[in-house]
Amino acid sequence: MTRIVRDELRQRVASAGWWYQRIDLGDGICTADEPRYHEIVWQRIEPTLPRRLGGATVLDVGCNAGYFAIELKRRGAGRVLGIEPVRLHLEQAILCRDALGLDIEYLPLDAHELATIDGTFDVVVFTGILYHLKSPLLVLEQLGRLCRDLVVVETECILEDARNVVHARQGPPGAVVPTACRRGCMKFVEGAELNGDPSNWWIPDTECVVGMLRSTGFRFFSSPVYPTEGRLLLLAAKSESTMADLSALR
Ligand SMILES: C[S@@+](CC[C@H](N)C(=O)[O-])C[C@H]1O[C@@H](n2cnc3c(N)ncnc32)[C@H](O)[C@@H]1O
Repeated sequence: MTRIVRDELRQRVASAGWWYQRIDLGDGICTADEPRYHEIVWQRIEPTLPRRLGGATVLDVGCNAGYFAIELKRRGAGRVLGIEPVRLHLEQAILCRDALGLDIEYLPLDAHELATIDGTFDVVVFTGILYHLKSPLLVLEQLGRLCRDLVVVETECILEDARNVVHARQGPPGAVVPTACRRGCMKFVEGAELNGDPSNWWIPDTECVVGMLRSTGFRFFSSPVYPTEGRLLLLAAKSESTMADLSALR
């Protein structure tokens, strides 16, 4: 990179608004100074994936500035598509892609519009998204149709706590009885209750996430891990011959 090009890129990064993701653009230019949470998520996921993706196709839902799309492209993915409804983030993703010279597609789509996407994908990255959705099961159903092999799910979650219990009627016809349910719940959050952010709608527990994924076509699961308090990371695959080593998620 010549100095003029480098200075121009530095200027464009500085004027591109606040960066949620830290992305290294080379030549000492980074979109943020401090390490960010998505880097911890990537450190956990990375050992579960093949060293080379051999042209596998990737969809990154709510891709933000494209950190996961970029990492997977560099690892040998074929078609990589990122979708992101917030213009600021989409523009950041395009800036990073162009600075790095990578062949990644971006579309200004909301996760509720997955059904409008052409094609299918071997890997779907679904990190930091579930709790932002008004209709999570509907979106997972659409995701299940688009995904051929593996989904990486990371989400805010209800804390694992032996005291958790919800009383609801359960049971087969004729034997529906009030039951203490300890798992399989999703908490509605109204307004800005979670982190002052009105774009948060639902907080599922681990069993709820696994159950929704089972209901939308996924049959094989990693053990859940919790990279930080109240955050769940999980891999789910459609078949046992998945490209990922599900046992490697730690
Ligand atoms: C917590 S950030 C996670 C970003 C990235 N996936 C990651 O793991 O680092 C949430 C991202 O989801 C996007 N988002 C919020 N609501 C969305 C929706 N309904 N559909 C798709 N993306 C959404 C936000 O604009 C933001 O980029």
